[in-house]
Amino acid sequence: MISIKSEREIELMKIAGKINYDTHKLLASKIRPGITTKELNDIADDYIRSQGGIPSFKGYEGYPASICTSVNEEVVHGIPSNRKLKNGDIISIDIGVIYKGYHSDSAWTHPVGTISDKKAYLLEHTKKSLYEGIKEVKAGARLHNIGAKIEEYALKHHLGVVKELVGHGVGQNLHEDPDVPNYGKYDTGLVLKAGMTIAIEPMLNLGTEKIYLLDDDWTIITRDNKPSAHFEHTVLVTEDGYEILTGEE
Ligand code: MF3
Ligand code: CO
Repeated sequence: MISIKSEREIELMKIAGKINYDTHKLLASKIRPGITTKELNDIADDYIRSQGGIPSFKGYEGYPASICTSVNEEVVHGIPSNRKLKNGDIISIDIGVIYKGYHSDSAWTHPVGTISDKKAYLLEHTKKSLYEGIKEVKAGARLHNIGAKIEEYALKHHLGVVKELVGHGVGQNLHEDPDVPNYGKYDTGLVLKAGMTIAIEPMLNLGTEKIYLLDDDWTIITRDNKPSAHFEHTVLVTEDGYEILTGEE
């Protein structure tokens, strides 16, 4: 079932989204060679709670940390650890926040120090693919236009589109209907309605789109070990278009 959020619910999701955005900004200011992913996790956990939020990933299906930190060839769901970031790495940070029962979900990928041109290209175009997808959102539009646009944009830039993981509805739960794939055909899928809230989250790779799961049962990495990037926003469908609940464009 796809829920349509009331004004009150949207207000709470906006607060969850603001805490999420502010946490990303805070972490962005801390990223540098030498910091560990666990230190980033703990900064995020403290900050989210200081704002009256709860980090939603902690304990989600047994997930052991408060945020996901995925470095280089790690696509998503990397577990924070004592690993120190190095100059030239890229790190995807994925954050979920619950505020008074309502969720926000957002991911950004950052450079650590100075990165290669190829990695910078990956970051730039993965981020742009997210905004291209978001621009398709509007009451009355078809859901798969989002994925069709992301896929078209990614292929034009010769990037691999991860297909085994998808975006999702978000609200009283982290994952709600519908699935929001990062591929598809234009003019197919359900008709979007004002008040739906969805997480759109392209994961694009410099090489193959193929991925696999590491033995820790969480971390997903690219099969060819080439770098991967991930950008995600929680987005509200409106009559005129959309509102991004997890940050400015
Ligand atoms: N943020 C992820 C998503 O977009 C979910 C993280 S799963 C968790 O769907 F287990 F790490 F919480
Ligand atoms: Co998500």
